[in-house]
Amino acid sequence: MAGSHNTARIIGVMGASGSGKSRWLKGTLARGNPAKLLIWDPLNEYEQGRIITDLRELVETLGALEPGDPFKLTYRPGPDMSTYAKKFDTFCALAFVIEGVCVVIEELADVTSPSWAPPAWSRLSRQGRHKGMTIFAASQRPTLMDKTFLGNCTMIHCSRLNDENDVKTMRRYLGVSEEQVRGMVADKDSGRFDFIERDMQTGKTVVGRLG
Ligand SMILES: Nc1ncnc2c1ncn2[C@@H]1O[C@H](COP(=O)(O)OP(=O)(O)OP(=O)(O)O)[C@@H](O)[C@H]1O
Ligand SMILES: [Mg+2]
Repeated sequence: MAGSHNTARIIGVMGASGSGKSRWLKGTLARGNPAKLLIWDPLNEYEQGRIITDLRELVETLGALEPGDPFKLTYRPGPDMSTYAKKFDTFCALAFVIEGVCVVIEELADVTSPSWAPPAWSRLSRQGRHKGMTIFAASQRPTLMDKTFLGNCTMIHCSRLNDENDVKTMRRYLGVSEEQVRGMVADKDSGRFDFIERDMQTGKTVVGRLG
């Protein structure tokens, strides 16, 4: 990806509902313009490339690609969350074999828990770096996110959190004061959406605001 995200391969995107996670993600994808892009889109809010709602069509479409082919695909798992486990497992297994793919997972906490991650997702977040992948995963509640993923993040982008436990958790990951995390603003009337980003490898922390 472009700019300050050159080295960030596994990016955790945290923040309360409406705090600007998806907006930041969309802007980052637009700037980075990854050659291979695969999006898990449970809220039907992305329109990158071909939009696929059928799992078999996703399998066939990705299976038909040659290794060097660029592509953009938005997969929408639909409204029935009881079907997500199988779909997410297949989605992650498909992503794992695509060298250099950029994978975006919206609402990670829908498909993982703090103490359990689906095996295919766990493999992706543990080994994806070695295949040149970039993984973005967003969650409203960092305390509900799977710990392996959080621990493996090379970059964390955090916007306003409303839950005190989440504030305390993220302050530890971000290495800033609790007040700094708690004080972030997300205000759609004024258009102000604060964030704190930390490069987990260098420890460099940046405070910013969506424009
Ligand atoms: N392209 C845009 N231009 C201006 N405002 C936008 C745009 N997209 C979203 N917004 C507004 O920005 C705010 C943040 O929305 P966003 O969808 O990024 O939140 P989110 O953190 O992803 O929330 P959720 O967890 O519910 O998905 C909302 O108030 C939304 O109405
Ligand atoms: Mg969102």
